[in-house]
Amino acid sequence: MIIIVTGGAGFIGSNFITYMLKQHPEYKIINVDVLTYAGNLENLKSIESHSNYKLAKVDITDVQEIDKLFSQGVDVVVNFAAESHVDRSILEPDVFVKTNVLGTQVLLDAAKKYRVTKFVQVSTDEVYGSLGATGLFTEETPLTPNSPYSASKAGGDLLVRAYHETFGLPVNITRCSNNYGPYQFPEKLIPLMISRALADQALPVYGDGMNIRDWLYVEDHCSAIDLVIHEGVNGEVYNIGGNNERTNVHIVNTVLQELGKPDSLISYVQDRPGHDRRYGIDPTKITNELGWKPKHTFETGIKETIQWYLNNKEWWTRIQSGEYQKYAALQYGTR
Ligand code: NAD
Ligand code: DAU
Repeated sequence: MIIIVTGGAGFIGSNFITYMLKQHPEYKIINVDVLTYAGNLENLKSIESHSNYKLAKVDITDVQEIDKLFSQGVDVVVNFAAESHVDRSILEPDVFVKTNVLGTQVLLDAAKKYRVTKFVQVSTDEVYGSLGATGLFTEETPLTPNSPYSASKAGGDLLVRAYHETFGLPVNITRCSNNYGPYQFPEKLIPLMISRALADQALPVYGDGMNIRDWLYVEDHCSAIDLVIHEGVNGEVYNIGGNNERTNVHIVNTVLQELGKPDSLISYVQDRPGHDRRYGIDPTKITNELGWKPKHTFETGIKETIQWYLNNKEWWTRIQSGEYQKYAALQYGTR
């Protein structure tokens, strides 16, 4: 099987490629990644010389290059490539529309032309918008995205759906909750708080800190996508989540406790505009129909993750000393 994995140098994509080459060493994996600020080849060090792994530094919005790549043979596409950070989408929405909507459409056209046997769109629970105090997102929840990021992901999802309905393209859409684990870029909540707490910097908690996210260890997301590639019923959407709802304040306090740092580091700052209050995934469909089960509990996963960041300080300090500085200065100033 030849699998094109887009965005394979990012957080989840790199974990996914590593996972797949372990599970299916006979599959050929082509990592299509243009290496934006979030793409990091260091994430793939452990498999970079695997004989069934290849990197193609290509932008998914580049019609000619994508066509050339697909013409060389492909069975399955897993589309991770995206602009993924909500705060950046508030500063710079245009690139989110370009990559997440147009890029998806370019891939769909190539997938249709070269008759791939499966196109998996890796999407997010954020397309469903925000929950009140009760209830969970199911696959039937209407799409009501609130940020430019989630709106662009919803746009991509709708195109994937349309290519199935109109052209019969064999697709699945997966919608996962917040991931955490090794190689997550230090702009996202958990690695941001770990890295700043270690430097005794203020930890910026938006609003009242009581927003809720539903956390899943990245490897469990990877195992779900592996299952969807093989068992997913064409045209179906699968929600992925491990029933781990936590407030942001709980997350930040856990990080502080694990690192032995004082909670005086917490700094409540202005809320994120359009900040979704609560996410919670109902994973009944993928559990009952495909037999997926996460392996990691939040309590063990968060400890392992914090330990990984302690053991891999060089990985994130290198990121922080590069282009990231500009964004951090804008976002956090001298706090
Ligand atoms: P990430 O930002 O860490 O990585 C994105 C990758 O895509 C990078 O390697 C980047 O270089 C690449 N990329 C961006 N634009 C590209 C383009 N035009 N052409 C080719 N490559 C491009 O993102 P992530 O957190 O690993 O998320 C991966 C996917 O999973 C995204 O589609 C995201 O919407 C989805 N998702 C993420 C989470 C989460 O919690 N992180 C949860 C659910 C779904
Ligand atoms: O739900 C899945 C989504 O999870 C993915 O689709 C996105 O790609 C991914 O970035 C993530 O989005 P969030 O906005 O939930 O993640 P983030 O880490 O940016 O923020 C998590 C929560 O923490 C959110 O409620 C905002 C809050 N937060 C975040 C940052 C960066 C803070 O309070 N302070 C911060 O500095």
